[in-house]
Amino acid sequence: MKVGIPKETQEHERRVAATPETVKKFIGAGFSVAVQSSAGEYAHISDAEFQTSGAEIVTSAQALFGVSDIILKVQRPSNLEIALMKEGATLISFLYPLVQTDTVLKLSNRKLTAFAIDLIPRIARAQKMDALSSQSNVAGYKAVLMAADALGKFMPLLMTAAGTISPAKVLVIGAGVAGLQAIATARRLGAVVEAFDTRPVVKEQVESLGARFIEIPLADKNTEDPSGYAKELSKESHEVELRVIGEHVKVSDIVITTALIPGKRAPLLITEEMVQHMKKGSVIVDLAAEAGGNCALTKPGEEVIQLGVKIIGRFNVPSLLAGESSRLYARNIMHLVLEISKGGKLELKREDEVVQGTLILSNGEIVHPQVKGALGKAEVK
Ligand code: NAI
Repeated sequence: MKVGIPKETQEHERRVAATPETVKKFIGAGFSVAVQSSAGEYAHISDAEFQTSGAEIVTSAQALFGVSDIILKVQRPSNLEIALMKEGATLISFLYPLVQTDTVLKLSNRKLTAFAIDLIPRIARAQKMDALSSQSNVAGYKAVLMAADALGKFMPLLMTAAGTISPAKVLVIGAGVAGLQAIATARRLGAVVEAFDTRPVVKEQVESLGARFIEIPLADKNTEDPSGYAKELSKESHEVELRVIGEHVKVSDIVITTALIPGKRAPLLITEEMVQHMKKGSVIVDLAAEAGGNCALTKPGEEVIQLGVKIIGRFNVPSLLAGESSRLYARNIMHLVLEISKGGKLELKREDEVVQGTLILSNGEIVHPQVKGALGKAEVK
């Protein structure tokens, strides 16, 4: 079978779904590989490097989609890309099928097979395929660098002949994958870091990175679902959280917010009043901007100064480090392909937990129960 790597077309997307390293592995596993010319441009991978690793370079998207049995992408496909896909082809990419129901229907109408890499189950065996984690890691790191750059202040404690400079204070809200990487990065830069998460299990991880865990007495006892994700807080607990966070936001130079609830709008954790009480020149990086934002004054997709505070709500932060994020993503997606194939051909084991979690369409038929449910709801609306 031929694996095809198109050039990403979504605005600001700089990543690519394969690297010379993964191309070699695909060829070693019995696949042939086609890469669209300049697909790796922003990740600094040339056509010549792809060619040397054994890929065929194809000049147009039309030709690439026309010859590929398995299309590997970063962003969900556009209508044109869906139309260009070969009959019987398989797509693997970020799809967010519980929200992007239109894309699912269009793929289904073309009778395609599709895997959503964002639905990789969070089990030990699938960690190497976990693209959400690999990309959140990049986002957490870059969030701190963006904040440090925007802050007119040193991050570390400095003792100079002209006097001592106190370290920056960083508050991280949400200590999942992105939050923990943000904590580690801010600590490496010498900042004093505090963090909070509604899942008490992360306290130990936060402390092991040298940050202080903020204890908030929440009335909700069960704040985590069976897959390790956070549950939405009750109104009462949310109010308690806001009160405590407000006190810490006031004294922070940088606030990095990463709080997400799967399938829901991101919880609102920094109100306009809290921003009003922040020191002028402080910085908020809202990594939840794409899910509506954790800060009331975030302008999703933009960088703004509100009430003297810089609020960064950029979308697609991993794409800013296109080389590294592509290398990690390409490995994640390669591991998934190798898991579901044998001898250069797809061979799906329907009872496999990874297949069950990620396969949403089989020759156009919607086979994922949650996606079926989401489509049902979309039709009712
Ligand atoms: P996420 O991106 O969905 O959420 C980010 C963080 O925000 C989470 O830690 C969540 O608890 C927190 N949050 C939600 N509402 C909040 C609120 N109101 N206030 C403060 N924090 C709030 O989660 P992510 O980073 O993708 O992963 C969450 C967890 O999943 C990890 O910590 C880990 O336990 C588990 N996981 C397991 C993996 C595996 O076993 N293969 C791989 C990756 C994650």
